[in-house]
Amino acid sequence: MKKIRKAVIPVAGFGTRFLPATKASPKEMMPIVDKPIIQYIVEEAVASGIEDIIFVTGRHKRAITDHFDYAPELEYALKKSGKEEYVNLIREISDMANFVYIRQKEQLGLGHAILMAEHVVGDEPFAVLLGDELIYNETNPGIGQLMEVYAKYGKTVLGTTEVPKEETYKYGIVEGKPIEEGIRLINSLVEKPEPEEAPSTSAIIGRYVLTPKIFKILKRTPLGKGGELQLTDALALLREEEVIYSKDIEGIRHDTGNKIGYIKAIIDFALLREDTKDDVSKIILEKAKEIGQ
Ligand code: G1P
Repeated sequence: MKKIRKAVIPVAGFGTRFLPATKASPKEMMPIVDKPIIQYIVEEAVASGIEDIIFVTGRHKRAITDHFDYAPELEYALKKSGKEEYVNLIREISDMANFVYIRQKEQLGLGHAILMAEHVVGDEPFAVLLGDELIYNETNPGIGQLMEVYAKYGKTVLGTTEVPKEETYKYGIVEGKPIEEGIRLINSLVEKPEPEEAPSTSAIIGRYVLTPKIFKILKRTPLGKGGELQLTDALALLREEEVIYSKDIEGIRHDTGNKIGYIKAIIDFALLREDTKDDVSKIILEKAKEIGQ
């Protein structure tokens, strides 16, 4: 069984839900306190043992490329003004991994974005992380949990969590047979079903370990929901040929792809950090009092 070294991170989306903030800058660069969302995602992958990060990117995403590159002018200016502590902080970002950028020339769906990475991934299993979901687990990073399941079973693994029934239309939903605590052997998958059609409330939350076989399947997957090439549809076809596992990811999950989830993530992270937690708790308590009156 080959070791998982590569992660594909699709970042070509427009970020419509955050307009006007995303008119000229990528949604992935929006900060949670002072760190862009995309850096949390890359850190999760690196903490799990990933060495190569493959971004599937698009127009107007240059800020992401710059963020993971060296910034010699900035480093020089920081050194000159005695702010050495920031020099390491910004340099470490670029040294975390090898970064590769692929342009997705047109946006034809998540499945299409993954297919764009075929020639860089090659004949190896690989991880996929979507930037809309942050998973906080200090000791056992989200994608690493799936990599452990892959190491044991050697097949595709999808990261899942339970969602309220009325929210199934937002996710790929899987149904399967539990074989171990939190691990299922999947019977069926469906992309964004209405609650009454959902086979379960087990939702895919933007973390996958895939095998290179998925590329061949994506090429023959018909367009699905929204006229897009859906990864979930390709996985449903793969399921006809071989077993697929799901793993309930342990950790605190934030859906930063919508406004309320994003605001909540900022509050939660600010409450976890030594430098912000006391002040932010005070603000929250004051506000709660104000609102309660
Ligand atoms: C994508 C996938 C969906 C998955 C979701 C997780 O949808 O198509 O199966 O549950 O990510 O975030 P999107 O949210 O990009 O529309």
